[in-house]
Amino acid sequence: MVKNGAIDLQRWRDPPIYRMLSPGTLLSGEHLNKVWRGMAQKPMNTEPGVPMIIKWVEKKEMLATEMACALAARALRLPVPVGVLVLGEKDQLHGLPIRVTTSEASSVICFGSEFHWPDDTIAIPEDTEAAQEWVWSRLCQSSQGSSGGVWDELIANEDRHHQNVVFDGIRGWFIDHEKTLTPLAKFMMQFAEATVRQTIVELQASSNPIASEMVFRRPTDHGMEALPKSLVNFRSRLRWLIDQATKWKTGVQDLDTIFMMTEFYLRSIDLRLPALSLHLSTRLSKPPIQSLWYQYSE
Ligand SMILES: Nc1ncnc2c1ncn2[C@@H]1O[C@H](COP(=O)(O)OP(=O)(O)O)[C@@H](O)[C@H]1O
Ligand SMILES: [Mg+2]
Repeated sequence: MVKNGAIDLQRWRDPPIYRMLSPGTLLSGEHLNKVWRGMAQKPMNTEPGVPMIIKWVEKKEMLATEMACALAARALRLPVPVGVLVLGEKDQLHGLPIRVTTSEASSVICFGSEFHWPDDTIAIPEDTEAAQEWVWSRLCQSSQGSSGGVWDELIANEDRHHQNVVFDGIRGWFIDHEKTLTPLAKFMMQFAEATVRQTIVELQASSNPIASEMVFRRPTDHGMEALPKSLVNFRSRLRWLIDQATKWKTGVQDLDTIFMMTEFYLRSIDLRLPALSLHLSTRLSKPPIQSLWYQYSE
């Protein structure tokens, strides 16, 4: 166990809560949720604001899975942007549903993901199929391809598609983790029970697109099998972060509930780490759909 925590994790001693500094710019596009680009900063901090993508998600458990995944990825050194809870005033978040703008709460709790400027040096194809091909081929050529396949297996991600990967010109970042581990929400209060822990360990997503793309495009050198062991080596960092999360108390009921749920998902990720290698080999032993297609179309 790391006693005082690694230097890069020290910022998580305090509850990760930011405030929006000015009105956000609503992003257009087919997103599931309302998403803004804006500046946010820790209250009382005099440093300039941090550019963020600020997402309004109604369900607390989804805010918590976003938070837990962003935090776990920090501990495991995986490319997921820093994630925090962001408090926005209603007039800073144009486009919120009326039931939210007319509610009594003064601030709205959102998920904030540190903005990684999309790579605009390359023209991304507009056609969905071509864009998808562009993302997968670029990702699979990079070292983040194998990390992504293994990461999504760890968090049982049900929502990985090409729009949930962002390239900033140097590397790819995995975003949008609200549909990971969510089937476990009903067990939130029963973590101590052995059968529940077993269910947590056994959960698998219906597919793992990045892992399949890696096997398809790099059948002999995808390198995914080697990764679970190196992630297990970071377990003490993850445990240290979980320890901090248990201490995040604000006195604001909604925030404390989200942090309690975040802790549950973090503990679930920690519990799943030793079984990751097994999950991955089960996944990799199933031929990806594309290779079946090629096999039968020859
Ligand atoms: N950290 C980030 N950096 C850059 N762009 C981001 C980031 N997070 C989200 N985005 C952009 O915002 C879009 C919507 O975010 P996402 O979390 O996928 O929301 P939704 O759940 O509505 O799909 C993404 O497709 C991406 O273009
Ligand atoms: Mg998305």
